[in-house]
Amino acid sequence: MVPVFKPLIEQEEIDASRESLELGWLGMGSYVSAFEKKVHEIIGAPADRHVAAVSTGTAGLHLALLVAGVGPGDEVIVSSFNCSADFQAISWVGADIVFCDCDDTTLAIDLERAGQLVTPRTKAMIVMDYDCIMCDHDGIAQFAQDHGIRIIHDAAHSFGSKYKGRMVGSFSDICVFSHDPVKTITCLDGGTIIVKTEEELRKVHELRLLGMQQPASVMYQNKRAWTFDVEQVGFRYHMLNMHAAIGLAQLGKIDVISQTRRDASREYNAALAGIAQVRVPATDFADVNPFLYYIRVPEQHRDSLRDFLKAEGVDTGIHWQPGHWFTLWKHCKAGDLSVTDRVGKEILSLPLHSKMPLDTVRLVADKVRQYFAQA
Ligand SMILES: Cc1ncc(COP(=O)(O)O)c(C=O)c1O
Repeated sequence: MVPVFKPLIEQEEIDASRESLELGWLGMGSYVSAFEKKVHEIIGAPADRHVAAVSTGTAGLHLALLVAGVGPGDEVIVSSFNCSADFQAISWVGADIVFCDCDDTTLAIDLERAGQLVTPRTKAMIVMDYDCIMCDHDGIAQFAQDHGIRIIHDAAHSFGSKYKGRMVGSFSDICVFSHDPVKTITCLDGGTIIVKTEEELRKVHELRLLGMQQPASVMYQNKRAWTFDVEQVGFRYHMLNMHAAIGLAQLGKIDVISQTRRDASREYNAALAGIAQVRVPATDFADVNPFLYYIRVPEQHRDSLRDFLKAEGVDTGIHWQPGHWFTLWKHCKAGDLSVTDRVGKEILSLPLHSKMPLDTVRLVADKVRQYFAQA
């Protein structure tokens, strides 16, 4: 079976895990500090951007909303074509989800439609780069300014990608990455949040560690402060040393990860060209570190194509079922979601891995072609 995801775990990650275990400090410590510094360096963030590692991307989204001051009574605009992690995070802070449609080409939030959803209760908007196509981040910054709202950039898919020559993570209001088991850079589980001020960083540090008011620098020396105050409700969202050690090993090979994923994505686009029913991502993948490779097919074919590919030894995924289809969120406020409804029925993720052999890409593409030749 060709899996949809396949983590790149090599000797470096195994050595890093062992070394971090041998250190004997399993919680948040020196590896986490080194991981944050490396992320800061790779994204080329200005000195006044602050990087904090957390336990998951979802935890990062939760903290981002809290840092943005979002709470009960507030509304958060989010594309319904997004990961349920975003909707859960909004629900956790007690705010109201307002579902917006996505753009048919980029699959990012439709800014024009988002504009129609702004009310005096709108406190923030979550925007997400779907895989290999970046959002219109300049338009989003202008939107935030026009409406006086905070932006949370869910960059779970776009670590290592660039927007107009700028590294993702270096320019957004608040940016969140995921390093979960299937992401381009995995820490097994982990996330990173990037904020703009020292004050926001202090808040993230407190919130990620049970509200404890102790400088992160103490734990970064593999030590613990035994006396501190707690002034606010906090969470157990810090990153662990072994996770950071694995993340550091992954960051050491980000160039090969990005290049091989770009090569595979380009090969897919070329190999699938000319199949009338298949719509491939509208990009040349320049400057991006692709997380997924997705296609869109007519809805009447999506599930039967999945079954066919499975029988042929190719696993596929669905990213995603839209948020407003779920029981928990089907009554949320929403605008016109006609594009999202269509995309949710057409979208299909094909296997994409770091260092994926191009022969495997061509094999998968051939199977897709074979399906449509018979259909
Ligand atoms: C767009 C998006 N946001 C957030 C998350 C959540 O990240 P994590 O799995 O690290 O909690 C994911 C995970 O798949 C995602 O795809």
